[in-house]
Amino acid sequence: MAQHGESDVEVELAALVEERTGLHFSVGRLQQLERALQVRLEALKLADRSEYLQRLRSRPAEWDELIPLLVTPESYFERGKEQLRLLRDHILPRLLAQPGELLLWVAGCSTGEDAYTLAALLRDAGVPAQRATVLGTDINSVALAKAEQGVYGQWSFRDTSAEFRGRHFTSEAAGLAVHPSLRRRVRFQVHNILASGSLPCREGGCGLVLCRNVMIYWQRPTRQLALAQFKRALMSGGWLIAGHNEVHPRDAADFEANLIDGVLAFQKPASTVVTVRIPPAPPAPAPAAARAHSRQEVAHVAGIDLEGVRRLAGQGRIAEALDGCRSVAASQPASAETLHLLATLASEQGDSREAEGLLRQALYVDADFAPAYRDLALLLESQGRHTSAQRCRDHLARLLATGNGRFGPDAVAT
Ligand SMILES: C[S@@+](CC[C@H](N)C(=O)[O-])C[C@H]1O[C@@H](n2cnc3c(N)ncnc32)[C@H](O)[C@@H]1O
Repeated sequence: MAQHGESDVEVELAALVEERTGLHFSVGRLQQLERALQVRLEALKLADRSEYLQRLRSRPAEWDELIPLLVTPESYFERGKEQLRLLRDHILPRLLAQPGELLLWVAGCSTGEDAYTLAALLRDAGVPAQRATVLGTDINSVALAKAEQGVYGQWSFRDTSAEFRGRHFTSEAAGLAVHPSLRRRVRFQVHNILASGSLPCREGGCGLVLCRNVMIYWQRPTRQLALAQFKRALMSGGWLIAGHNEVHPRDAADFEANLIDGVLAFQKPASTVVTVRIPPAPPAPAPAAARAHSRQEVAHVAGIDLEGVRRLAGQGRIAEALDGCRSVAASQPASAETLHLLATLASEQGDSREAEGLLRQALYVDADFAPAYRDLALLLESQGRHTSAQRCRDHLARLLATGNGRFGPDAVAT
């Protein structure tokens, strides 16, 4: 067996990973790959790094261990409100106007939030479950197991309304569980978008592909491979929605690019479908720059700020985010925003008592901090403390009505 130097192994591993998953590790980002490699070498008790490469080539199951260490499983419900409005008001009604059963594919669904959000749109529109199915797929089997389970912490609801939560979820000891009538609309399947020749559905059998925050990590040729796969999966006149600025119309020449209410939607051409051609959309940021921004990592907890904490949390690194947030809180007089974020992280770790105390502290520091009322109401409700929850909701309603409420940056920077 040929012996490899350390960097040879890394470069070879980077090439294998990109071929398999699309993830591109530039020289500056090899560190992340190195960390994942170390984890696997230790788990397998392997000293020789080139042996690991061999293992990866000969045992496909090893990919199931490596991939979760490399991909970003970040997701949350009702993500990208403008795109959801477009789906609700334009795309789903058009698709549902056609007879037959409809299949909607959420490619790269991670832990399932996007798939259930789409199912909630169908449920809210009164579409019978047997009329339309949501298929969520991902390359990460660990994330999909969580999607199958359908039980979520507060962090997945950071940009949702109380109505959405109340309608589609029930409170359980482990978190908020997807309502059975939503659950039965969705099925999940492990699938690699880039496995050419393999589609998770019949060719031309899909009305919509929703693929958001997946292709942003890919180089242009990889994105084009994926677009070709989506085109094969879509029926004539079917729609593709990618993440905001993720696909430039120039790269999707096989699709009609439509700008509807300011949102870009791609459509597989069909002579029977009337589409409005639009002037070219504003140029997307250079993919490399976008990637550098979205994958920027916080290396040390020391010196971290709230944005760094949110980013860690967004990557699912809750314990590290909690440490970072505590260090922010210790370094300055704690603001309502910091206390609220600490509460969200505590709650994510299942510590609802700590979360409640922190939310109350946040309101003590700033009595007009609306997100703390919202989350406290939700927490109290989940414990059956309806009167106290209602009191919080009343406060929140007053803040909204008077316009006095303060709203911290709730979303995670990814
Ligand atoms: C950041 S998450 C996006 C989740 C969700 N779509 C959203 O926007 O909230 C990206 C997901 O893409 C998945 N992914 C990456 N490469 C993939 C591939 N080649 N095939 C299928 N899924 C992939 C990752 O495993 C990860 O779960």
